[in-house]
Amino acid sequence: MINVGIAGIGFMGWIHWLAYHKVRGAKVVAICEFDKKKLSGDWRAIKGNFGPRGEKVDLSGIDTHSQIDRMIADPKIDLIDICLPPSMHVTAALAALRGGKHVFCEKPLALTTADCNKIVKAAQRADRQLMVGHVLPLFPEYAFARRAIDSGKYGRLLGGSFKRVISDPLWLKDFYDPKRIGGPMLDLHIHDAHFIRLLFGMPTSLISQGRMRGRVVEYFNTLFNFSDPQLVVCATSGVINQQGRGFTHGFEIHLEKATLHYELAIVKDESRLMPLTVLTDKGRAVVAKIGDGDPVNAFEAEIKEVVRAIRTGEPSALLSGELARDAIQICHRETESVMKHRQVRV
Ligand SMILES: NC(=O)c1ccc[n+]([C@@H]2O[C@H](COP(=O)([O-])OP(=O)(O)OC[C@H]3O[C@@H](n4cnc5c(N)ncnc54)[C@H](O)[C@@H]3O)[C@@H](O)[C@H]2O)c1
Repeated sequence: MINVGIAGIGFMGWIHWLAYHKVRGAKVVAICEFDKKKLSGDWRAIKGNFGPRGEKVDLSGIDTHSQIDRMIADPKIDLIDICLPPSMHVTAALAALRGGKHVFCEKPLALTTADCNKIVKAAQRADRQLMVGHVLPLFPEYAFARRAIDSGKYGRLLGGSFKRVISDPLWLKDFYDPKRIGGPMLDLHIHDAHFIRLLFGMPTSLISQGRMRGRVVEYFNTLFNFSDPQLVVCATSGVINQQGRGFTHGFEIHLEKATLHYELAIVKDESRLMPLTVLTDKGRAVVAKIGDGDPVNAFEAEIKEVVRAIRTGEPSALLSGELARDAIQICHRETESVMKHRQVRV
């Protein structure tokens, strides 16, 4: 049994908690949180943009800490699951690795490439596993696309366009602070940067055009270049100032013998869906069978992958620290390109 300590019981801590309870082979034995109400089991204030609302939970048999160092010092814990705000990831991850624990850290791994490298190296030195909660490739539509590409059934991968846009998150006061969250680039687009890195490899250069808000990019379009000049890949991400469309994401992925098209938008709290559709070279448009599409299931799959990697000692390719670091590096190059108004090397 893998004993887990979760640091940070907010939206993600709650979703991870729910997922651990559905996965065999791991057990949450401790939590760390500085909100006293949450330490007493009252999680009713937790609310996110998917999944159930927080509840009152029974914490009997679970150690509760207000300081992460105390939780890390507990010898019965094997894995520290970091669901703290992004600016705290680097300190928490390094402390956990120094303490001999495996680490599963929510995205973004850290706010700078240098800090990501520090964590990746610390995990190598400590001979512990480092995994990052880049859950998007496990969302059913994105998992379908990965499988369709890997199967070779539709021929060569030619490129794709990826989109992730939200309304201004007015309730997140640190959202545009590059030292705390990092704005839409590091909070939002990081998911697509990671997915693009996974599908196409590391870009060699890129050009982004965007609007700045203070020191972070508010809204942007990026064209990516790869060593294979045939690949045509672009992404759009950021914040719009109208509250009517809270969230939209999707993709159009081009293969020789098929195009995969998917888009979900939340408009005035209602879902508008272009279900994942395979446009075939025979002129057909086939809606893919992907289950109920509940995002919470993707987190269950993610925790299963974490448990598998630790149990077998075989690191996770999908959740690797190196991929997460590459995604951060891509994002920073995109910001640089917006600010310099020119193409930059990655
Ligand atoms: N994978 C995804 O789809 C996804 C979605 C949302 C958030 N996230 C990521 O998850 C992480 C957490 O985001 P969230 O939305 O859950 O945030 P949140 O603000 O809801 O939760 C953070 C929790 O950490 C606690 N906390 C803060 N400082 C602490 C400290 N020093 N010691 C102990 N507890 C402390 C807060 O009280 C809060 O309960 C972020 O990195 C975010 O980017 C990922």
